[in-house]
Amino acid sequence: MKKVVLAYSGGLDTSCAIFWLKQQGYTVICLVADLGQQEDFSAIESRAYAAGASKVYIKDLQDEFIRDFIIPALKANAIYEGKYLLSTALGRPLIAKHLVALAHREKAQAVAHGCTGKGNDQVRFEVTIGILDPKLDIIAPLREWDFKSRQEEIDYARSYNIPIEVTKKKPYSIDRNLWGVSIEAGILEDLQQEPPEDAYLITKSPSAITTYPRYIEVYFEAGIPRKIDGRVYKLKNLINYLNEVGGCYGVGRSDLVENRLVGIKSREIYEAPAATILYTAHRELESLVLDRELMHFKEIISLKYSELIYYGLWYSPLRQALEAFVESTQKYVTGSVRLKLFKGNCTVVARDSKYSLYKKELSTYGKGDKFDQKLAEGFIKIWGMPYKR
Ligand code: ARG
Repeated sequence: MKKVVLAYSGGLDTSCAIFWLKQQGYTVICLVADLGQQEDFSAIESRAYAAGASKVYIKDLQDEFIRDFIIPALKANAIYEGKYLLSTALGRPLIAKHLVALAHREKAQAVAHGCTGKGNDQVRFEVTIGILDPKLDIIAPLREWDFKSRQEEIDYARSYNIPIEVTKKKPYSIDRNLWGVSIEAGILEDLQQEPPEDAYLITKSPSAITTYPRYIEVYFEAGIPRKIDGRVYKLKNLINYLNEVGGCYGVGRSDLVENRLVGIKSREIYEAPAATILYTAHRELESLVLDRELMHFKEIISLKYSELIYYGLWYSPLRQALEAFVESTQKYVTGSVRLKLFKGNCTVVARDSKYSLYKKELSTYGKGDKFDQKLAEGFIKIWGMPYKR
């Protein structure tokens, strides 16, 4: 019998996919990737078996996700269209990598995913799989079956006793991991509507809470966050902690109409408290320790880097080359940044580094000025010389 390894989330789509793949004559092996989505994995496992899986692997990939994907993206200050810190986009190549590895181990001919034919995620999965093993067949059940609506799919599940979560149907499509939550569909498709509070999963409403701000200090070592308020944290705990604290202050929400790779504009909202705090702090520290030219050039790289992540090109030669560039810029990104979390905002209030390029004796307007202002005159003459007619 033919074997397929399916990326299984436990949701309606991938549950129906198990059953559908079986109907196509496949033995279905499920890979459940734990990227920090905080779900009940034993319930997911039973659901997979009940839907017809022959084997279920649950893999905790959080540390690998952080080390190989989140940290490089943070060092690059990767953000798509100025608002999206790329949580979903960063997870896909990692899941794809493990799909391929499991297919090899299980001697499967094919891998499958539960993405629709309209989104970015199908591209990210398939491009990655194609790079890592071009000989594997790829099956995308959602592009092949023809349910006209979600209700039809639910009816299909019911009629074949495919177990689905019995909760009141969630009106949104949600993807969550350590780096953030992506929320779309339902009322969010109406661009005129403010997202209702119930759409958010991990952040409190900025207006509802907290009369007092919370100050928090993040310490980085060569671009990697190591301490919060002087205490050393393992990266996973550090991110979870910042998600919790930031979430309490409503930090890290964004709402955007984004350009998908397949040419569609779509409205999505995001929650990324930890990512927002770390991104803000990391950028600030770079402002302090990188010289102007390096910093400005890195901003250009950052833009391209984000596109490559969004476009599913994580394993492309260009992304890898840019990673090497970014890595080379992080040597001096050591120091601490103090931030103020208040009513949804995350503001830098102080920074410090032993590699700081800030020289008060040069910038001061007060006592102790060492900047020789007379030199400025000659500098300006020569600087402006080419532009005189
Ligand atoms: N638009 C985001 C991206 O392409 C998130 C996609 C998944 N979103 C979701 N709500 N299921 O990376």
